[in-house]
Amino acid sequence: MIKGKFIVLEGIEGSGKTLACKIILKTLHQHNIKNVKLVKEPGSTYLGEKIRKIIKNYNNDQDLHHNAELLLFHAARIQLVESIIKPCLNKGIWIISDRYQLSSFAYQGGGDNIPSKKIKNLKNMFLKKINPDITFYLDVLPETGLKRAFQRKKLDRIEKKSMKFFEKVRNTYLSIISKEKNIIKIDANQKKILVRNSIKNELFTWLKNN
Ligand code: TYD
Repeated sequence: MIKGKFIVLEGIEGSGKTLACKIILKTLHQHNIKNVKLVKEPGSTYLGEKIRKIIKNYNNDQDLHHNAELLLFHAARIQLVESIIKPCLNKGIWIISDRYQLSSFAYQGGGDNIPSKKIKNLKNMFLKKINPDITFYLDVLPETGLKRAFQRKKLDRIEKKSMKFFEKVRNTYLSIISKEKNIIKIDANQKKILVRNSIKNELFTWLKNN
C-alpha cells in the first residue's frame, strides 16, 4: 500500500490558512487524489478539542505557564498523530493539517522564548517519525493579519497578545523556513485571488515532482 502524503499549513493569525486548506483540498481532488482528510491543531480529536478550549479561553489569576502550554499543545498533537494522522497515512489517505510542529517553534519558541532545544527534544521523544512531506507557510505582516482576524471574530487569549509577540513569531517562522527544505513560502499579503493562484501553482509543481 502506498502511504498518503502529509501536507501542513502554517502562518500567523489572519494569514488565510483555513482558505488555503480548502484550496489544497480542491486542487488534490482535481488531480484525482480523493482520499484526503483535513485536520486542525490543536483539535480534531476528543482530547485535542478539549485542550483547544482550555488554551484559547484560559483566564485565571494563575497565569498559564509557558512550559505547561507547550506540553498541552504537544498532548493534543500526539493524540492527533496517534489516533488520526498515522493510521490515515498508513492506509494511503492524505492529510492536510492546519498547523503542526512548526507552530510550537514559532509561537512557544519565538514568541514565548522557550529554547528551541526543549521543543526539539519533545519532537524527538514523541513525534520523530511523522514529518510533513510539504509545508506551505503563509507569510503575512502581523498588523495585516491581526486586522483581518479582528474583523472576522472576537479575539481569543493568544490573539490578544502584543504586536511584538506576533513580530517575534513571524521572524521565527521566517528564520526557520530559510534553513529548512520542503517549506514553500507564499506571500499572503496579496489579494485573495493572487494567494489562491500561487498556492495552486506551487502545489501543481510539487505534485508533478513527487
Ligand atoms: P488557529 O486554529 O490558527 O486559530 P483560529 O482558528 O482561532 O484562527 O490556532 C490556534 C492558536 O494556537 C493560534 O493562536 C496559534 C496557537 N498555537 C501555538 O501557539 N502553538 C502550537 O503549537 C499550535 C498548534 C498553535
